[in-house]
Amino acid sequence: MGGARAASTPDKPAILGGSKVRTAPFPSWPVFDQTEERALIEVLRSGHWFRGTGQAVKNFEAAYAQLTGAKFCQATANGTAALYTSLNALGVEPGDEVLVPPYTFIATVNVVLRQHALPIFVDSDIETSQMDARKIEAAITPRTKAMIPVHLGGSPCDLDAILAIANKHKIPVIEDACQAHLAEWRGRKVGTWGATGCFSFQASKNLNSGEGGAILTADEAIRDRCYAFQNSGSGLKYIGATFTYAQSGANLRMTEFQGALLQAQMKRIEKQAQTRTDNARYLTSMLKEIPGIVPARMYDGCTRNAYHLFMLRYHKEHFAGLPREKFLKALDAEGIPASSGYAPLNTQSFIGDSLNSRGYRALYPKQALDQWRERTACPVNDRLCAEAVWFGQNVTLGTRADMEQIAEAIRKIQYHAAELVKA
Ligand SMILES: Cc1ncc(COP(=O)(O)O)c(C=O)c1O
Repeated sequence: MGGARAASTPDKPAILGGSKVRTAPFPSWPVFDQTEERALIEVLRSGHWFRGTGQAVKNFEAAYAQLTGAKFCQATANGTAALYTSLNALGVEPGDEVLVPPYTFIATVNVVLRQHALPIFVDSDIETSQMDARKIEAAITPRTKAMIPVHLGGSPCDLDAILAIANKHKIPVIEDACQAHLAEWRGRKVGTWGATGCFSFQASKNLNSGEGGAILTADEAIRDRCYAFQNSGSGLKYIGATFTYAQSGANLRMTEFQGALLQAQMKRIEKQAQTRTDNARYLTSMLKEIPGIVPARMYDGCTRNAYHLFMLRYHKEHFAGLPREKFLKALDAEGIPASSGYAPLNTQSFIGDSLNSRGYRALYPKQALDQWRERTACPVNDRLCAEAVWFGQNVTLGTRADMEQIAEAIRKIQYHAAELVKA
C-alpha cells in the first residue's frame, strides 16, 4: 500500500466497526432567519406576487448587476430558463451546432436539445474538470452557432483561451455560471465575459431561492431579446401596450417571492464565499499531501473559485486497489458525505433517443446523426467520471477542524485500505 500515514496508527475504520472520525453533521443548507421571513411576508402582504406589478425582482436585478459588475441583469424562473432564453436571444436554431462540455449538469445540454440544435461535446481537461479549451477549435464547423462552457463546481473554465477562439471564429459564448456565484477570472466576475452569463439559484446553489435564475449581459439588444423571450414574447418597448408582441417567447419569469428571498440571501453570500475559500484552501493543502488524492487544479486566470463543489480525483492504486464506491462508503461511515459526481453525459441514452426522434431525423442528414457519436467521444472525460470525488458546498461552510477531519478520515481509510478491499 502506498501512502502517507498519520502520526499515530489510525483507529479501525468505522465501516469495520471502529469509531467514526466525525459524529456531528456538516452545516445545514439553506441558511436563513427572520430577514428572509420578513422579506417573504412583505411580498405576501403586498399582494404583488408577479414581477409585472411588484418591485422585488427589479430590485434584485439591480442588486445582482451591481454585485457582479454587469451592465444588465435579467432574472428568470431558473438556470435552465436563463440558458434557454440566451440561446433564443442569440438566434440559435434547429440545424445549428452548439459546443458543450460532457462534464456538467444535464440542463446545459437539455436546452440545446429543446432548441433542436446539435450538442457537440468537447472533451474535459482531466486536471481541472473543465471543458478542455485546447480541443475546442477541432470541434468547430460552419454550423457552430454558440458555445456553452461551464464554470464547473464554481471554478472558472479557461476563459482566455475560450474567448480567443470564440472571437476568432465569431461564435458567441454563453457562460454557464450556474454553479459559480462570485467566482472571478482575472479579477472580474464570471458571467460578465461572454455574450451572456447564466446563473441558477436552485436550492443547492451558493445563492438560493429554491428555484431561480439570471442572465448577465453587457449588450442592450441581447438584454431586450432576453426580456421579451422570458416574458411570453412581450418586450420592454411593449410595456403598457395591450396584447401586442415583438416576437414569440415563453413564460419563464421569476416571481416576486424569489426576488425578495434572493435579496435577503445576498446579504450572506460574501461571507459564506470567504468561508468556503478559506476552508477549501486549507483542505487542499492537506489533501495534496495524501498520495492518490488529487484536488482539481485551477487555471492561472482564476482569481476566485466559488467552490460550489470541492472536486478531487481518487486514484485507487494508492489505496490498495480499493474501488471508489467502497472508498465513498467508508468515508460516509466516518461521517463525511461525498459523491462520485457526474456520469458522462455524451454517452447517455437520452441523447441518442433525442437524435433518433422524428424532429431530429427531419432536420439533419442521416450522415450527420450517424457521425455524431464518433465526433463527440470524450475519452478523457470518461476517465474523469470514473475517478472523481466531490464534497458539496455546505461542507466547506464548516470550520478548519471539519477540514482536518476530512483529511484524517481519508488517511485512516488509506492506512486500512487492504482490509477494506477484502471487506
Ligand atoms: C452547470 C449547471 N447548469 C445549469 C443548471 C440549471 O439550473 P436550474 O436547476 O436552476 O434550472 C444547473 C443547476 O442545476 C447547473 O449546475
